Amino acid sequence: MTNPGAWSRWAAERIDAIHGADQWRAPRNFDAAGPTGVLTTSQQKVVSFASNDYLGLSQHPVVRDAAVDAIGRWGAGSGASRLVVGSRPVHHELELALADWRDTEAAVVFPTGFAANLGVLSTFAGPGVHVFSDSLNHASIVDGCRLARANGATIHILEHLDLEALDAGLCAAGGSGDRCIVVTDVAFSMDGDVADVPALIEICARHDALLVLDEAHSVLQDIPVVPTDPATGAPIATVVQVGTLSKTLGALGGFVAGPRTFIDLLVNRARSYIFTTAVSPADAAAALAAVGILNSPEGEQLRTRLRSLVDTILPGHPTPIIPIILGEERRAVAASQSLLDQGLLVPAIRPPSVPAGSSRLRVALSAIHTDEQITDLAAALARLPGGTP
Ligand SMILES: Cc1ncc(COP(=O)(O)O)c(C=O)c1O
Repeated sequence: MTNPGAWSRWAAERIDAIHGADQWRAPRNFDAAGPTGVLTTSQQKVVSFASNDYLGLSQHPVVRDAAVDAIGRWGAGSGASRLVVGSRPVHHELELALADWRDTEAAVVFPTGFAANLGVLSTFAGPGVHVFSDSLNHASIVDGCRLARANGATIHILEHLDLEALDAGLCAAGGSGDRCIVVTDVAFSMDGDVADVPALIEICARHDALLVLDEAHSVLQDIPVVPTDPATGAPIATVVQVGTLSKTLGALGGFVAGPRTFIDLLVNRARSYIFTTAVSPADAAAALAAVGILNSPEGEQLRTRLRSLVDTILPGHPTPIIPIILGEERRAVAASQSLLDQGLLVPAIRPPSVPAGSSRLRVALSAIHTDEQITDLAAALARLPGGTP
């Protein structure tokens, strides 16, 4: 018995439910190269505080030229997955540079940071593995855990930053002889707070757990230092770093950096690396140029400037992501609209991106914001009811 129109009715009902919950969203076109530009529907000129281009490297002339040169040499797309024929010399060069920058034995580039997290968790977690994941981890880690569960792993979601619960959970799981993975954002994308990496390394070392650090937003955090065992000289814990080329590095793509055996395993087993087209040569070249800048005195100057801009808005805050929690969705939307009326684009973040009742403004700062833009933002926030971070 067929049911004509059932799928169309289902889709229409789902759309109605999203509107009914006041959660409808659509991309808005921002015609911009950098923080200042025009919203195309209203033709309003605005300054954006919404981008993750924390050092402005997507606009850096050296980065842009590297992308253009790569297109001139290799064309627009890579045409195949890395293991087939999509790998250009620039992909390999980028992986060497990423490993050097993150101080690891090796690195592998994925199409996105999202794909990198899927690859890590679905490759390393399976039967007999317990995964411990912070409740505020990014959606790509959540979905990686779902894949890991489908592979037979056991998933434990921990209260945000609860190290005692982690320790207790690892005690219980390790006692049964199973292997454990601890996975966390280093800088949390919607809250702008940070994990205690040295404490996590110490806990993982004690329980022989694999530590997976997602460093997507950790532009102001230092590279994790894993102490060595005085007897053997070996690192006390095994750490795998997941990162993105799409935020601080100003391009598009993701990567994993860590011990050579773990990287080789990903190349041979991670489905989100194997069965997808390689990052474009232009993105790889742009990211390679960006890593070069980050490792230079100019990179240090950009990070110092970003640090000082963060301190202007919220002294001592660890990341360029500054949340202003307003509670109900309509308060966050009204605050965002009020800032927009003043030419400042600060998005309202609502469920399902954050838990119900914690809707917020999310301010993201970049080293290429001008002093005047930051002063205007600070003044506008001070005028909002409940707007001071
Ligand atoms: C913590 C975290 N991990 C991973 C990702 C995914 O990175 P990408 O945008 O490169 O897919 C994001 C992106 O928003 C993120 O915030």
